[in-house]
Amino acid sequence: MRDPDGGRRASARVLAWPLGTLGRVKPLAATLRAALEDELAGRSRTELAAATARLSQRYRRGGAASAPILASDTDVAAYAAYRMPATYAACERALSLAAPCYEGGIDSVVDLGGGTGAGAWAAMSVLEPGSVQVLDQVDAALRCGKRLAPFEASFARWAVGAPVPAADLVMASFVLSELSEAQRDSLVAGAIAAARRAVFIIEPGTPDGHQRVLAARAALVQAGWTVAAPCPQSGNCPVQQPDWCHFAARVERSSVHRQIKRGDLSYEDEKFSFVFAVRDGALPAAERVLRHPGKRKGFVELTVCDNAGETGRRVVTKKVGAAYKQARDLRWGDPWGDPAARD
Ligand SMILES: C[S@@+](CC[C@H](N)C(=O)[O-])C[C@H]1O[C@@H](n2cnc3c(N)ncnc32)[C@H](O)[C@@H]1O
Repeated sequence: MRDPDGGRRASARVLAWPLGTLGRVKPLAATLRAALEDELAGRSRTELAAATARLSQRYRRGGAASAPILASDTDVAAYAAYRMPATYAACERALSLAAPCYEGGIDSVVDLGGGTGAGAWAAMSVLEPGSVQVLDQVDAALRCGKRLAPFEASFARWAVGAPVPAADLVMASFVLSELSEAQRDSLVAGAIAAARRAVFIIEPGTPDGHQRVLAARAALVQAGWTVAAPCPQSGNCPVQQPDWCHFAARVERSSVHRQIKRGDLSYEDEKFSFVFAVRDGALPAAERVLRHPGKRKGFVELTVCDNAGETGRRVVTKKVGAAYKQARDLRWGDPWGDPAARD
């Protein structure tokens, strides 16, 4: 596997992380793209494109799967090629929004239905835990994930309903949509029982995905947990149907992605809904930006969710100085809530 300088990597716990300015870990998107290029070298683009078309049709249709959707090595390779960069980007953005809302540390992560490990890559990038365990029912996905990972992680066979190993954080990314309601409840209950500190559930940013996240959120709150992100409070969600709470992460499309997905754009926006809940130590944002901020001449217009459990509009004008400058840099999903900046 290549490191960001193009060399080949050996295996070690955390291998020469690409450090950004201020010593912070940089997102691993480029490392993942390079690892995928290596993994897919020599594979027929025609076969990958056919598998990609089949898989995306199946995922779009939704509904519980009676047999594993990733049914062959080619399916796994196609999934890794066209979905991993997007699920990594969504998890990375969600965890980056959640991390400042929680004052505890995360030293171990279990990724349920972790497949080829995109969620584990994001957890490594944002939280830097000491250990990560990826659990899934599909052996080919686990083998592929192990080959790709530039960090030490364990990849093991597991099926919903089996005991979940204890960890500081138990997560499930883009899994609930292919489970029956009983399996979804079982996965969330297993996560709650096994997580020492935090549970992170992320789903596609669709009305149905948000409903599944809301059901997981309700189970967490019912169990006495606190929502740390994205919600500013743990009471009822004010975002009611037909609206839905979701966010977006920009994903650069690699050339292999463009070949097998037959798209021309050099990027796509991956939409996601999520909940990050903790036993203790929640530091939720006062408000959360729910839409792309409207940046106009002399003012910024925000749609936010607040800690009173309501959604509302904020207009931040030049008059408020520092808060206006801050508002001009805001992105969809960011925390907000400086009372001085309210009308
Ligand atoms: C859409 S993929 C998501 C993979 C990964 N979490 C990601 O974000 O890229 C769903 C994963 O859930 C796994 N899965 C589905 N049903 C499962 C079950 N009953 N037990 C264990 N894993 C399951 C699938 O094998 C697949 O790897």
